[in-house]
Amino acid sequence: MKTHVSAKALLTAAGLALSCSVWAWNEGGGEKDEAMHLTPNVENGMDVFEVCTACHQPEGWGTKDGTFPQLAGQHKSVLLKQLQDIRAKNRDNPTMYPFALPREIGGPQALADVVAYIEKLPMNPDNGKGPWPKGTPQYAKGEKLFKENCVKCHGEHGEGDAEKFYPRIQGQHYKYMLRQFEWIEAGKRRNANPDMMKQIKNFTPDDQKAVINYVSRIPVPKKDLAPSKDWRNPDFD
Ligand code: HEC
Ligand code: HEC
Repeated sequence: MKTHVSAKALLTAAGLALSCSVWAWNEGGGEKDEAMHLTPNVENGMDVFEVCTACHQPEGWGTKDGTFPQLAGQHKSVLLKQLQDIRAKNRDNPTMYPFALPREIGGPQALADVVAYIEKLPMNPDNGKGPWPKGTPQYAKGEKLFKENCVKCHGEHGEGDAEKFYPRIQGQHYKYMLRQFEWIEAGKRRNANPDMMKQIKNFTPDDQKAVINYVSRIPVPKKDLAPSKDWRNPDFD
């Protein structure tokens, strides 16, 4: 009996060790690092992007209802990390998974190409926002929570940090971000940053909504935005 239990404990420990090494937050190596150092072919990136437009839209703006995130304007490093994580099933994305596979779009060169294309797309001037405008108590609460808990990684304006693989979150859709918080809690986003998880561990659902409402309302610099919400990507006319 005793040996049986310890054998099981051993197996569990081995399993944990295995899952830790597989799901480490941002291991070096892999196709992400390879792609970072390749010279991108933006023309080809446009061709690769075609399959993505079905969901992320030709403008790369995603959808306001949060089903699909905005990709336009995201840091190249972050896009590559997310693509690698999705391909490695380190981030659950059953809808997108088949379209992101090497047999569908190609290897590291295709990744380098498509992110170079996405990176130069202007952002959505009309992203999905939370319910509370400036002047409401919830907005004020969100602003305070943001300054105390998010700025050190995502930056004062949610601009992220390309070198550290911290995503730009300004201009992202409210409902998409809210779902990321829920999925991080539910363990469906295994590539979540462990330090961020610690930071938001004690957030109530109201805190989460307030801080994400604030993020969704941080203005994006004009130079990064499309001229209007009716702008259409001429490459996919
Ligand atoms: C069938 C729909 C679909 C297609 C096609 C698709 N995606 Fe996605 N993608 C999604 C969904 C849904 C999510 C968000 C999943 C979640 O909520 O975590 C996503 C997330 C992403 C993310 C992570 C964004 C972030 O902010 O973390 C990247 C990067 C991405 N997609 C790139 C691509 C690229 C590049 C292509 C084309 C090669 C593509 N996607 C094709 C549905 C799709
Ligand atoms: C210790 C650094 C750190 C802190 C603090 C932190 N984050 Fe993050 N956050 C990250 C990293 C890194 C990622 C990307 C994880 C990955 O690689 O998938 C991320 C991802 C996200 C995402 C998903 C972005 C996307 O495009 O899918 C959202 C939304 C987000 N953070 C919001 C917040 C908010 C709001 C706060 C404050 C309450 C916060 N974060 C605090 C580091 C941090």
